[in-house]
Amino acid sequence: MPETAVRGLRGATVAVANTAEAIGAATKELVQALLAENQLELESIASIIFTVTGDLNAQFPALAARELGLHHVPLLCAQEIGVPGSQPRCIRVLMHVNTTKSQKEMRHVYLREARALRPDLPGNGAVPDTGATPAGASEGQGALASSAYVGPRPRPAIARIEPYEPGKPIDEVRRELGLTDIIKLASNENPLGPSPKAMEAARDALSQLHIYPDGSASALREALSRKLGLPMEQLLVGNGSDGIIKLLAEAYLEPGDEIVCAQPTFSQYAFAARLMGAREVLVPLKDMRHNLEAMAAAIGPRTKAVFICNPNNPTGTVVTEAEFSAFMKRVPREVLVVLDEAYYEYVEHPENVQGRRWVEDPAHNVLVLRTFSKIYGLAALRVGYCMGPANVIAELRRVQEPFQTNALAQAAALAALADEGHVRESQRTNQEGKRYFYRRLEELGLSYVPTEANFILIDIGRDSRAVFQELLRRGVIVRAGAAFGLPTHLRVTIGTPEQNERFFAALAAVLGRPFANSGHGSWREELSR
Ligand SMILES: Cc1ncc(COP(=O)(O)O)c(C=O)c1O
Repeated sequence: MPETAVRGLRGATVAVANTAEAIGAATKELVQALLAENQLELESIASIIFTVTGDLNAQFPALAARELGLHHVPLLCAQEIGVPGSQPRCIRVLMHVNTTKSQKEMRHVYLREARALRPDLPGNGAVPDTGATPAGASEGQGALASSAYVGPRPRPAIARIEPYEPGKPIDEVRRELGLTDIIKLASNENPLGPSPKAMEAARDALSQLHIYPDGSASALREALSRKLGLPMEQLLVGNGSDGIIKLLAEAYLEPGDEIVCAQPTFSQYAFAARLMGAREVLVPLKDMRHNLEAMAAAIGPRTKAVFICNPNNPTGTVVTEAEFSAFMKRVPREVLVVLDEAYYEYVEHPENVQGRRWVEDPAHNVLVLRTFSKIYGLAALRVGYCMGPANVIAELRRVQEPFQTNALAQAAALAALADEGHVRESQRTNQEGKRYFYRRLEELGLSYVPTEANFILIDIGRDSRAVFQELLRRGVIVRAGAAFGLPTHLRVTIGTPEQNERFFAALAAVLGRPFANSGHGSWREELSR
């Protein structure tokens, strides 16, 4: 039996107002979040010291702790030293708990604007994807906080979730900067747009908008079943792969459960875990690639699923068949392995793991996610699908709302799937664009991660937020790497030849670096050389 010892936990939050209700609600949320995050019960608490900033004097936080049932636990409240510029309406805790875990395993919890106090903790440093200042996230919430709203208390689990910050929309940049000619290379969309056949199908479906869509997307599933050679009961269509990730969480995750995923990777896996009060166990990439050995080692008794993003967003790297096979030997049968193949159609690597083949084999618990948002160019319609064991698909169907995929999306996806010419053209554009990127980056002396997707991670060797802003001013929207914990990187979607040229002209100007072989003609000429 591991020995129980007293360990220390720190945390902080912010009350929405200096009222007894707001202080009570914030305190309860913080104490409960600390317990949930560390899988502890109220009985584990040995003592708590609360401190508050000088602007919170309507109530002792300890009273809220008593209301939670901590009658025999020593509690102390104190007012903090009034340091100029400190976080307003802040409640801090130092909690001592009895646990068998080591001090190193203790997870401190910072909620709401107080997250900005500890950017070093996983999840807290999440600056907006737009590359805005790190303070941006808390300022956004500051507006809410100052409204002194008192109402129903949200589930403590959701306080760990930051609203998703998408790539900056073109219209917003147009408004903010007064620019007209803008290109968006921030969200890995297909620069060629949707297939004309998909657009026509969506237009045809318009006259039936008064009819509910087919809740089981049977026509689309049938077409997928034929294409993939899998029975219909192994396929599910959803509201984007995002929608399916959420279904997975709702069907399988309970508070205290764990998922394992890489760091950095696509943000929605951790979101889904947090939503359900589960914990994301983040395994750092090794040389920008999934470290499957470490991920297998991170699987514990509470692990329900391992998410592998292949190719990985934001690095564009893939897992090979051999690596995946070795990994699968170490994964217990009760754990679901989710392969997110959002960028599957772009992959050129000959040894890339083929998720579909693993799904085919009933001996494995592998679920593959695919989407119509990327190469099929239908991101705005929100349609994705998954293939997996029939049992898993059946569980996902239980939690899926009746009409999750809308009728236009289903019609357009069906037509897009059949338009193989458009897919091939998109692949070709991406492959040529990728090679153009490599060449230009080498000319600029910038290092990058060779990519198997339709985006590329570039290391510009200094804080990329300023570069992001400068590119924005020139009408080029990319993604700053700080959102992924890669502060010197930019993630750039590979665009059309013209967009790519424009990106490099802007980048070279911003960095003040001429191309090593400047004077060359267009990229097409260069490629043909
Ligand atoms: C790896 C990955 N999975 C899933 C998605 C979301 O796809 P969808 O639009 O189908 O929700 C994205 C979008 O960026 C992604 O990068």
